[in-house]
Amino acid sequence: MRQDIYIEDLKSFVGKAVTLRGWLYTKRSSGKIQFLELRDGTGICQCVVMKNQVDEATFAAYDKLTQESAFAATGVVQEAAKAPGGYELFTKSIEIISIAQEYPISPKEHGVEFLMGNRHLWLRSSRQHAIQKVRHEVVHAIRDFFDERGFNLLDAPILTPNAAEGTSTLFELDYFDEGKAYLTQSGQLYGEAGAMALGKVYVFGPTFRAEKSKTRRHLTEFWMVEPEVAFMDLEGDMQLAEEFIEYIVQRVLKNRQNELKVLERDVSKLERIKAPFPKLHYDEAAQILKEYWSSMNEDEKKERFASGHKEFIYGDDFGAPDEAVISGKFEKPVMVHHYPAAVKALYMKRDPKEPDKALAMDMLAPEGYGEIIGGSQREDDYETLLGRIKEHNLPVDAFEWYLDLRKYGSVPHAGFGLGVERTVAWICGIEHVRETIPFPRTISRIWP
Ligand code: 4AD
Ligand code: MG
Repeated sequence: MRQDIYIEDLKSFVGKAVTLRGWLYTKRSSGKIQFLELRDGTGICQCVVMKNQVDEATFAAYDKLTQESAFAATGVVQEAAKAPGGYELFTKSIEIISIAQEYPISPKEHGVEFLMGNRHLWLRSSRQHAIQKVRHEVVHAIRDFFDERGFNLLDAPILTPNAAEGTSTLFELDYFDEGKAYLTQSGQLYGEAGAMALGKVYVFGPTFRAEKSKTRRHLTEFWMVEPEVAFMDLEGDMQLAEEFIEYIVQRVLKNRQNELKVLERDVSKLERIKAPFPKLHYDEAAQILKEYWSSMNEDEKKERFASGHKEFIYGDDFGAPDEAVISGKFEKPVMVHHYPAAVKALYMKRDPKEPDKALAMDMLAPEGYGEIIGGSQREDDYETLLGRIKEHNLPVDAFEWYLDLRKYGSVPHAGFGLGVERTVAWICGIEHVRETIPFPRTISRIWP
């Protein structure tokens, strides 16, 4: 058995006899005419069964088929403007493949904990289906963007001997006689080795952070794409990032209008996502926050504190509420650059003209979605980088291979990392990143 015709292809089969296979979504009957909605993963097709046109077994299937029962329907495809998808199947025969037990997820409202516990089934519902289709489009666009520009895919290891992004969020495991190993937090360090070998590369894979925070944008396992380019500085990095985001968003708009409609996304907000994006020095972003707080009276401030928004002090990193204030000033993603070096990763190069600032940038998505990209120009001087590793009390021997990149033909280079789940959440306009990944992993969830 092989499925040859899927619901999404029905427009090429109008007037022809086909067999569709799938699962029962919903059904209704007026006695002599039955309507069975068949879902096959590519769409939903209404199968119309008329009592006087079919044999008894086919007409009787209606009563047996429960929600999510599997069946095959054979009939003739016809246009039907009012039917979901625009086509229906004038059904001649139905073959039952399996009868589903009482399905736990009914069309009524369920709590999110219940749905997450049934994630393996929840994925079948139309909203989750739409989100996964958008995710697929985003991933496809990511690959096309870099492939079209001559980047080489570089698969970085997931088991690593050292931290990449600070030691507080490391997942640690015992690695035979070699001591401790860690799940990768970022493939960047390997991407840098790749850039020195291949010029421009992108690492794309799952990354892990033992994030103790329970927020709507943190997962413990998430997918990140990380381009890394030799002979690129911070400015080139920001340009690449804005072209990249425009490409992804416009591609989803082009190919996934139906899914965005299911998600009730205001697409006019996405249509504006065209490069160039606004770019702010950290000092300018800090000024926005300073004005924000100084425009408030004591009562208003107390209200903000109660909601968890801490008053910004120059030199701090931005928290999620700070990012929302900054990005709230713009309709496009905004890039903040030149963060204080003290709040950023040790591998970032400092600006010789402002030695307390890192040549770093974050891209903040509009509509309060916050940071979707973090990137920087990398420290390319051997002694400086060695000094930083020591300052951070990190084991120099674990970083020896990384330091080698500065010993043998060091060049200026830069890159960034884009979080797939945060990007999909923003494009879909959904509240929480946990719905953007098929099986989310958070501090309190590792099942199913
Ligand atoms: O800003 P981050 O930590 O940057 C890096 O890891 C760099 N090594 C990237 C690079 O320059 N090659 O993470 C990059 C992005 C964030 O902007 C965010 O979109 C996502 O990864 N991210 C997370 N997404 C979901 N859950 C988490 N816990 C995340 N942590 C980071
Ligand atoms: Mg970051």
